[in-house]
Amino acid sequence: MAEGRQTPIEISKEDFRKIGYQLIDSISEFISTIENRPVTSGESPKHLQQILGSTSLPDKGRPVVEIISQATDLLFKHSLFNGHPKFLGYITSSPAPIGALADLLAASVNPNVGAQILSPIATEIEKQTVQWLSEFIGLPSGYGGILVSGGNMANFTAFIAGLKTKAPANIKEDGLSSVREKLVLYCSKTTHTWIEKAVVLFGLGSRAIRWIDTDSSNRMDIMVLEQAIKNDLTDGLKPIMVIGTAGDVSTGAVDDLSAIASVCKSYDLWFHIDGAYGIPAAVIPELKGMFEGLHDADSIALDPHKWLYSPLEAGCTLVKEPGHLSDTYSSHPAYYNFSQNEEGSSLNYYEYGFQNSRGFRALKVWMTLQQVGRSGYIDMISEDIELSKLLFKRANDHPELEAVTQNLSIATLRYVPLDLKDGADKEVYLNKLNESLLNDLQKGGEVFISNAIVNGKYCLRGCIVNFRTTKNDIDEIVQIIVREGRRISKTIH
Ligand SMILES: Cc1ncc(COP(=O)(O)O)c(C=O)c1O
Repeated sequence: MAEGRQTPIEISKEDFRKIGYQLIDSISEFISTIENRPVTSGESPKHLQQILGSTSLPDKGRPVVEIISQATDLLFKHSLFNGHPKFLGYITSSPAPIGALADLLAASVNPNVGAQILSPIATEIEKQTVQWLSEFIGLPSGYGGILVSGGNMANFTAFIAGLKTKAPANIKEDGLSSVREKLVLYCSKTTHTWIEKAVVLFGLGSRAIRWIDTDSSNRMDIMVLEQAIKNDLTDGLKPIMVIGTAGDVSTGAVDDLSAIASVCKSYDLWFHIDGAYGIPAAVIPELKGMFEGLHDADSIALDPHKWLYSPLEAGCTLVKEPGHLSDTYSSHPAYYNFSQNEEGSSLNYYEYGFQNSRGFRALKVWMTLQQVGRSGYIDMISEDIELSKLLFKRANDHPELEAVTQNLSIATLRYVPLDLKDGADKEVYLNKLNESLLNDLQKGGEVFISNAIVNGKYCLRGCIVNFRTTKNDIDEIVQIIVREGRRISKTIH
């Protein structure tokens, strides 16, 4: 510590040790008792604001021990715990405990992984992490990429590289307005909402999206895709990209990637795969066939904070030719002395994506990958899939539940009261009933699931990216759904 300088921010070595150990004790107690807590406190924002109070920022600081104790108490009492075994909502995993330790270590050293000179070992660890992730999903060597905050950013990062590469003009220098033809791109109707942000952010506009119909398995209809491309070409438009989804957010369906790849080859289009959720399942030998075509993708989005169980935030963009990222994002301002090292040119991650200063999110992914190993992941991902199949089966076997879909680790189902009569408004009633059921379940704290609309049916949706969920949890979740379904069906007409 600097002699002679007293600042209100430094913590003495003794205090850091003492308070840090206390915090670690509280966290380990929290993790080991998480299943006995409600999944969520379900409190209203107003109630939470009252707990926090409305005082202004204090002029004078407070002791660290008090602040940590307050923050710990607030978080443990008033959070939703996606590490709870009965959390099956959206696509957020139980976080690997080693990731929490990794974040503490990363923040303590605080490397800026924008430039190699500012993060010597961290840059190499990120590079190795990217290489391991691409090996993990079975890609050949040579792929490059970057870690980003999550699925949206991973898709955006790839999207602009594809746009820049396939646009019929030098848009990096001359901008999109130098392109005469209207640029269009193709994705299935199940594509995650990131695409809607992408076309607004990057100047194409939402009319550039061709939403391709899906078949009965929720996969992109390839005949419709090809016809749409032909129609656009006839109309003088410029197709640039097809986005395939490997694990759609609602039902987990994986598009026919190999068919999309051959369409992209025929029409010289960029092939991007949004595998933010589902692509880790490509590690399972029996599922390899489902992901055929992966190798032909120009870019892939993959989220360690989904099915690799990393704590938020960790996404990854992989590209077949790393030069596509640097061609898109690289610039060399005079104030950066970053370009060279003794071995030649430096790997500076600011040249591969959106961010300039970058945190060391790779560390938690790198550490978790090593703790678990390939075979550990094969076991956990396979078990998640089996649990999802069990949820579907339990729903199928239950007279008051309708099992709707099951793909990867996502099952959808709905509650259907036994005495429900057929009639014109039956579907409207069921949608209303299941929506109310979901709202109550989400607030109740016993289980957290989410929803999906499948062929017009409002469904309950369980997505298992959770290494804590057991068969017993699935059985109890089914009982809770039926119990609450019965209760709510009495109140809704
Ligand atoms: C298929 C898919 N793509 C993209 C995203 C967006 O990911 P994120 O929320 O990490 O930005 C999601 C989120 O669930 C997803 O399921």
